[in-house]
Amino acid sequence: MGVVLLPQVSRRWLRHTIPLAIFALLLFYLCTRSLRALSGCGSGAQPCVTEGPPPSQIRQQLGSLEAPEREEPRCLGPEGMLGRLVRPFRASLNLEGDVELSQYLAGWRELIKFLTPFGSIFTFATSEAFSKVTALEARVHGPDAAHYTSLATMAAWERRAGLLERPGVAPPDSAKASGSRTTLLLHRALRWSQLCLQRVATGAHRGPSAGEQCSDAYSTVLGPHHPWLVRQAARLAFLSFPGRGRLLDLACPRTGEAEARAALARAAGTLEEVYNRTQGLLAERGLLQLA
Ligand SMILES: *[C@@H]1O[C@H](CO)[C@@H](O)[C@H](O)[C@H]1NC(C)=O
Repeated sequence: MGVVLLPQVSRRWLRHTIPLAIFALLLFYLCTRSLRALSGCGSGAQPCVTEGPPPSQIRQQLGSLEAPEREEPRCLGPEGMLGRLVRPFRASLNLEGDVELSQYLAGWRELIKFLTPFGSIFTFATSEAFSKVTALEARVHGPDAAHYTSLATMAAWERRAGLLERPGVAPPDSAKASGSRTTLLLHRALRWSQLCLQRVATGAHRGPSAGEQCSDAYSTVLGPHHPWLVRQAARLAFLSFPGRGRLLDLACPRTGEAEARAALARAAGTLEEVYNRTQGLLAERGLLQLA
């Protein structure tokens, strides 16, 4: 009886889920498209990528209009979006050879603030980075806070206390995942953000669009770890990815293109340093296979 029932139940389940999933995908796609149209970019009225003069020419123009070159672009300063993001990530590297968790998470909070206006794909591709940051923060400030000051202390404690998942086995409830596993998922999302921002900052005007560059980074870094349905939804969502001009404008508003590109590349460089250090720490401890 149970043998007969099971396929029926799963068939019925599939009959209801597949149309629902397709409907959800479509809705998601339409929403991102209309968001994009609202922003005025890609609606036909305004191109997303402004084909400006080459960066060197812009620098000359900037130089002739403004006082001698500033030390640091404004958006990397204390009030700038990129500055607020870079500072905590830099501070997370203050511990020699280790990553300070509270600063790393503070950096992530700013990164999410920065990425959210770029569209749902960021929230989506970083697969709810927000809930992961919150879950890890709960540990950093929880009863075992003393063990959650840095990545190395956390990994050592979770191993001693038997809190680590078996490699490749997902925990039944992601909210109860070990801090090390949550860190690994954030770590991968950080790599994707870094590659995406780096490519947007350095891409040629006539080369692949920002959407293509970030979609490509997604396929390399996150795609292999996501289920099929999520990968398809991501592929659709990248079709409405903002153009390079809009991304640069969000990163460094009211700034020349060359300066915005340079600032974004510097920010991406800091993310890479954090990524490199974290990658080394996770690899030494055999934690890259946790999920
Ligand atoms: C990160 O590591 C890679 C590979 O080891 C290296 O090529 C790159 O220069 C490093 N980046 C930074 C910012 O340290």
